[in-house]
Amino acid sequence: MATKKIYLYPLWLRIWHHVNAVLMLSLILTGVSMQYSNPDYPLIRFDIAVSLHNISGILLTLSYFYFFLGILFTSIGRYYVMRSQGFFKSFYLQARYYMFGIFRGEPSPFPVNEERKFNPIQQITYNVIQHAITPVTFITGWALLYPESIILNVFGFSGIMLTSLLHVTAGFFISIFLVIHLYFITVGHSVTSNLKSMVTGYHEIHVEDEAAQEPEENKLAEKPEK
Ligand code: HEM
Repeated sequence: MATKKIYLYPLWLRIWHHVNAVLMLSLILTGVSMQYSNPDYPLIRFDIAVSLHNISGILLTLSYFYFFLGILFTSIGRYYVMRSQGFFKSFYLQARYYMFGIFRGEPSPFPVNEERKFNPIQQITYNVIQHAITPVTFITGWALLYPESIILNVFGFSGIMLTSLLHVTAGFFISIFLVIHLYFITVGHSVTSNLKSMVTGYHEIHVEDEAAQEPEENKLAEKPEK
């Protein structure tokens, strides 16, 4: 079957992604180990877990700013721009595909091309993770690193306790995202094709995908606002 390759993941993005994945895994493992630590049987020795967590958090903050600059100043940023027009319709079509169409072998309603790397669900998920939840995690993390910066009493509640609750909750959402992310990267053309794209930078478009023309209604759902 004929295939066409498009370059969707430039080197800077792949480096960011792999560094970010390692740091996130380190943060989740050390975070869980500290949260449920039993001094007699720690998953990771407490002092080691604290040091590793702090170092990974500092590096993650740097990696986030690197990503943010990349999104702002390279052409990759355009894939993250969301349009309100037709949003719910596109979201519904993609959710329906994930729930039913994918199991019936139907073509994707939003196939990948040079103009559109993410389907509507990926787009909103990546935006929320990258531009809301990750910043909450590292901002609260820095605050906990310098607890003297935290307001002591917020409406009768301990500021440190609230900051730490926010930190753990955001970390929990990232962990949930990671599990779902790992599942969805396996539903490409083959189980490993998305992973291969993130390693080589190239996404393979198969002629059958292209031939399965995107329904006209989806294009309308995505039509940019005037
Ligand atoms: C072992 C862990 C991970 C693996 C194997 C993995 C794998 C992948 C793969 C194969 C893609 C390309 C397919 C796609 O665009 O959906 C991707 C994209 C992406 N991943 Fe991950 N990922 C991991 C962890 C993470 C984590 C922890 C985050 C953030 C918290 C993350 C955020 C992203 C983002 C934002 C993209 C889109 C990047 C872009 O093209 O602009 N990933 N990942």
